[in-house]
Amino acid sequence: MRRIALTVNGARREAEVEPRQLLVYFLRETLGLTGTNVGCDTSSCGSCTVLLDGESVKSCTMLAVQADGGEVTTIEGLAQNGSLHAVQQAFHEAHGLQCGYCTPGMVLAAVSFLAENPSPSEDEIRLALEGNLCRCTGYHNIVKAVQMAAAV
Ligand code: FES
Ligand code: FES
Repeated sequence: MRRIALTVNGARREAEVEPRQLLVYFLRETLGLTGTNVGCDTSSCGSCTVLLDGESVKSCTMLAVQADGGEVTTIEGLAQNGSLHAVQQAFHEAHGLQCGYCTPGMVLAAVSFLAENPSPSEDEIRLALEGNLCRCTGYHNIVKAVQMAAAV
């Protein structure tokens, strides 16, 4: 076991983890943050996307020990003081979700992308989200939601 210390959604967390434990299972099972979903476990779908030090990462392809000392944001940490993040609000208003399974990963990928490119074209949005799959094929409204968030 290895002891890790990191910040998750603004709170310092320390835990003993197995060196082979994936970050996504640390978040879901150790910390109970089940908004981060597992769709494939093989780095294909993006439903496990979280922010690590502001950058989107697929938490099924990282070990928990690799996040040691870092700052992780999951979907549970985006809303502040009861107000949705602008990207969450835009997904709500533009109906950027159907079953919602992919939504946390989509939202966090969009947050990271918009931080780098605040005024993206539609093509740039589609390219940025190509690592996030939606089985409901709701891409059109997801792209609209990101455009809406970019306009805020
Ligand atoms: S569960 Fe991580 S990419 Fe699919
Ligand atoms: S809304 Fe269902 S998988 Fe995307």
